[in-house]
Amino acid sequence: MSGLGKEMVSCSVAAEERSGSRCLTTCLLLVSCCLMLTPALVEDTSDTWISDRWEGPALGQPLSDADKLDLPVHVFADGSGLPAGAGTATEGAILYARQCAACHGSQGQGGKAVELVGDRSLLVSEFPDRGIATFWPNAATLFEYVYRSMPPEQPASLSANELYAILAFVLELNDLLAPGDSLDAALLSTIEMPNRQGFRTIAR
Ligand code: HEC
Repeated sequence: MSGLGKEMVSCSVAAEERSGSRCLTTCLLLVSCCLMLTPALVEDTSDTWISDRWEGPALGQPLSDADKLDLPVHVFADGSGLPAGAGTATEGAILYARQCAACHGSQGQGGKAVELVGDRSLLVSEFPDRGIATFWPNAATLFEYVYRSMPPEQPASLSANELYAILAFVLELNDLLAPGDSLDAALLSTIEMPNRQGFRTIAR
């Protein structure tokens, strides 16, 4: 009898302990939730958070000097920044067929994406053509554009030689490069785009 009583007592103590520890766990969870939520709520409404937001999302880490050296240089309208290398339209035709034709058409006539070769109507016409002869004021910047964004699934995947070769092919299709010429930085910088006068510099 007494044995049973002891068991019942110890059982009820254990039950109390259990519910007590459950209560403690719940309380701790609530406190930690509040601790996690509070700073976010305070930050959301503070002026500091808003002014920080305009400076950027605060993701990542600052670039080290070594990282900065690894970044490709920018190419400017006069051709400064173009890397060493060269390529011909013959080499470029093979690369273009593999990497570009599916969207821009086998001869640059367009398809899923804009044409790279086409009618040279003015950009102010009702349906302006976006072939590079109309849409690009200078040839050198095409290099960086294609390097950074084409093909869209694999940007920055082409080497300098491959880029010169592909551009040689596209420029030849536009009659802007003599057949057989090897395209390099010097030659690309001298190509005059037909619509170079059709652009205005917007003062900032
Ligand atoms: C998956 C489809 C796709 C592939 C593959 C692709 N492009 Fe493009 N390309 C586009 C689209 C879409 C645009 C228009 C982008 C825009 O207007 O923002 C574009 C724009 C361009 C332009 C600018 C044309 C202009 O005058 O506006 C050039 C030049 C270009 N691509 C070259 C290339 C080259 C060279 C390759 C191959 C290395 C290539 N693209 C592969 C989809 C593609």
